[in-house]
Amino acid sequence: MDKFAIVMEDVVKNFEDVTAVNHVSLHVASGELFGLLGPNGAGKTTTVNMLCGLLKPTSGSVFVGGYDVQKENVKVKELIGVCPQETATYPYLTGIENIELFGNLYTLDRKTLSARRDMLLEKMGLAQDAKRKVEKYSGGMKRRLSIILALIHNPQIIFLDEPTIGMDPQSRRAVWDFMQELKREGKTIFLTTHYMEEAEILCDRVGIIDYGKLIAVDAPKKLISKYGVANLEEVFIKLTGRKIREEV
Ligand SMILES: Nc1ncnc2c1ncn2[C@@H]1O[C@H](COP(=O)(O)OP(=O)(O)O)[C@@H](O)[C@H]1O
Ligand SMILES: [Mg+2]
Repeated sequence: MDKFAIVMEDVVKNFEDVTAVNHVSLHVASGELFGLLGPNGAGKTTTVNMLCGLLKPTSGSVFVGGYDVQKENVKVKELIGVCPQETATYPYLTGIENIELFGNLYTLDRKTLSARRDMLLEKMGLAQDAKRKVEKYSGGMKRRLSIILALIHNPQIIFLDEPTIGMDPQSRRAVWDFMQELKREGKTIFLTTHYMEEAEILCDRVGIIDYGKLIAVDAPKKLISKYGVANLEEVFIKLTGRKIREEV
């Protein structure tokens, strides 16, 4: 594995009337747990989507696992797991059926698939509900299932776009514990979140993005001491201000 799991070089993404990502350069080391923080509409999801090969940058380059995401898309797809912001699960299938569908897309053999399925259901606290249809799941349960789907093929580099949104503290802790376990296994995790406490506890480093510009990148502790404040939330407010942003 490359020294850097993720490299962004001067990346720009323009939509019709907005520059969603504005000259962002970033290196994330292999094995790092990195958090991208920013208010609504800051450019987090656009960044994740470019890193996963779902969106093409207007300019600049993106490398994942040492591969050019645009030119070597197939290699990148093998390496990564993605939990998108919009939960993409099939409501009329059960939890298990959703997981098996994804496992088969990745052509996992029967034994590997059932072992990973059971392990992930257990870790995400969904074992009891695995045979229920997903339409009956709460929002938090769908999020946890979506995390399982992202991880079924045991990817080396994991993208989680607001994985814990709307979760109760118990579910959130389960997800945190699991992320830390994945980190111990040497996986790289690229996470976006609005929860500053979560980022402060989990992340080796965070990047703060606002209006498409990456305005700070460092370890939470270093940012807190640099700005002379009590916690990461205060750093965030100091850097991004108090203006309320539209949800996108
Ligand atoms: N497909 C799109 N077409 C036009 N504008 C978009 C599209 N996707 C995102 N945007 C705009 O790009 C900006 C960044 O959005 P996004 O990356 O979703 O932010 P975040 O995930 O940080 O909330 C916002 O202004 C949003 O409205
Ligand atoms: Mg988003």
